[in-house]
Amino acid sequence: MPEYSFTVNDKPVTVNAPDDMPLLWVLRDLLGITGPKYGCGVGVCRACTSHLDGAEIQPCVVPVKECAGRCVTTIEGLADGDQLHPVQQAWLDCDVAQCGFCQPGQIMAAVALLNRTSHPTDADIDEIENVCRCGTYHRIRQAITKAAGHG
Ligand code: FES
Ligand code: FES
Repeated sequence: MPEYSFTVNDKPVTVNAPDDMPLLWVLRDLLGITGPKYGCGVGVCRACTSHLDGAEIQPCVVPVKECAGRCVTTIEGLADGDQLHPVQQAWLDCDVAQCGFCQPGQIMAAVALLNRTSHPTDADIDEIENVCRCGTYHRIRQAITKAAGHG
């Protein structure tokens, strides 16, 4: 089986995996990193949303071979030690989560949005396509606005 080396949350990792194994399987099953959730497996629900070289991806549709030599960040890599990322803190302040299943992906999508646009409009926020079965969309918008410094 091929060997792939890359970085996950600032730590170097090497895995043996079929080249078409989705990154989500590698993260969850081989590396035990379970923040990115498995929802649909086909790039639609976005529960698995993470970052590759700082850009948003859905790891359920990214084969591990595309990650060689690159940097993967999951929800586990957002905080700086005990210091939560400002988006995580805003999430707590706004009590966003309900069942929580979609929330790691929602937060990773929000961080990616704020990295692209530091002061997103409501229309920008509405472009996030992550599904929340609990309907927390209103609080997600509040938290993103707060994290952007105008909430
Ligand atoms: S599990 Fe990846 S988008 Fe649904
Ligand atoms: S908080 Fe339950 S699916 Fe989003």
